[in-house]
Amino acid sequence: RRKQSRKGSMADIPKDLLQEIKRLEDLFTVDTAKLKAIVEHFISELAKGLSVEGGSIPMNPTWCMGFPTGNETGTFLALDMGGTNLRVCEINLPEEKGEFDIIQSKYRLPEDLKTGTADELWAYIADCLQQFIEYHHEGEKLDKLPLGFTFSYPRWTKGFDIEGVEGKDVVPPFEAALEERGVPIKLTALINDTTGTLIASSYTDSEMKIGCIFGTGCNAAYMEHFSEIPKLAHMKVDPNQEIAINCEWGAFDNEHKILPRTQYDVIIDKDSPRPGQQSFEKMIAGLYLGELFRLVLVDLHEQPHVKIFEGQDVAALKKPYSLDASFLSDVESDPFENLQETHDTFHTKLNIKCTKPELELIRRLAELIGTRSARLSACGVAAICKKKGYKTAHVGADGSVFNKYPHFKARGAQALKEILDWDKGRDGKPLGRGHDPVEILPAEDGSGVGAALIAALTLKRVQEGNV
Ligand code: GLC
Repeated sequence: RRKQSRKGSMADIPKDLLQEIKRLEDLFTVDTAKLKAIVEHFISELAKGLSVEGGSIPMNPTWCMGFPTGNETGTFLALDMGGTNLRVCEINLPEEKGEFDIIQSKYRLPEDLKTGTADELWAYIADCLQQFIEYHHEGEKLDKLPLGFTFSYPRWTKGFDIEGVEGKDVVPPFEAALEERGVPIKLTALINDTTGTLIASSYTDSEMKIGCIFGTGCNAAYMEHFSEIPKLAHMKVDPNQEIAINCEWGAFDNEHKILPRTQYDVIIDKDSPRPGQQSFEKMIAGLYLGELFRLVLVDLHEQPHVKIFEGQDVAALKKPYSLDASFLSDVESDPFENLQETHDTFHTKLNIKCTKPELELIRRLAELIGTRSARLSACGVAAICKKKGYKTAHVGADGSVFNKYPHFKARGAQALKEILDWDKGRDGKPLGRGHDPVEILPAEDGSGVGAALIAALTLKRVQEGNV
């Protein structure tokens, strides 16, 4: 088994590679001062997004008004459309807050549907819901069940590309498909995954103040007072009323004022379907981590003064988006001192036989990209906490990068400490472990429980005739 530090192994690395490692370290490392500067700018951009003029972060009001009380009751459905599956849940919220019943079924999302027509997609989803009802409620006479639909696609990503959905209200065609089949379901709320995460997590932990997704995409939601939302002032809602804001913070710094973008980030953006958008997300989210890594390796290979992958066939490495975040995460978790697993993966997946020094560079590069992702992600969390004046908070997080990427949690926690100066307590003495005032914790099931709770809250609000 290998040791934590690889410093010793760096001794045998040829000078040209060592120099490149140093250059990459300078390029991808975000120090404390920079983190702090990013957070300050982030705070002002969050406020700008809430202003009448608006800014680059959309700060979308979700109309989910406040946290659940725990008194929500009844049967609700939740529908979640991920990249590969469609998940349907039925949740029974009991009279007394506590354990709730949940049943769920998964349906495969056929690949060709992701690039087909909008009508085909809605028809397929309606068919799945019909199957769910027939299976779980055979022969029952049902009133229309309220459904919360987690649909986190303000623009298509994650392999989807269907015309006639972007910029359109997805509710009418979806309801029409249900109606046609006579499925007893009412689409009650359309939900972003971050809002679902926020609500589900706060239901079981009242300290939860922010819901985050660190996955293929990256985003957060939190509760804001109407008094802080000038763009909604015309609605004349009680200034003390809270509403969940889906930040869509992936758009932070679209004007390129503060983030330490590298030449590789510039390429990612330029070659993406929507250049100039989602600048922050493109530096940290799972969709881009493997591609960043690949772009650096291709660039090094093309530098005449760097000897890397000499005499090897790099055709596979040259294929855009051929490496995903799990590739990077495998490199980072290779347990062997000689990086045997990384060696084998490069050989089988990319047809490249790496030398020992090349493996060292590869490992360091993965660490740099993964660390930058975690540290920049922490900036968003810190910005919301500082904007809200939270001295302590729990943050509910979900997503493949948060759940599976090695060291992501610890690196994020470390960055939060640096940004918010928690290394020392009020008495100036170092704080022990487990004393972080802001903690990023695994979230509850946002697109299941969260979506159902939001459907319940929405139904109640509509029945009471509130906005
Ligand atoms: C993308 C989407 C956003 C979603 C996030 C996490 O940023 O724009 O709506 O919350 O991915 O899935």
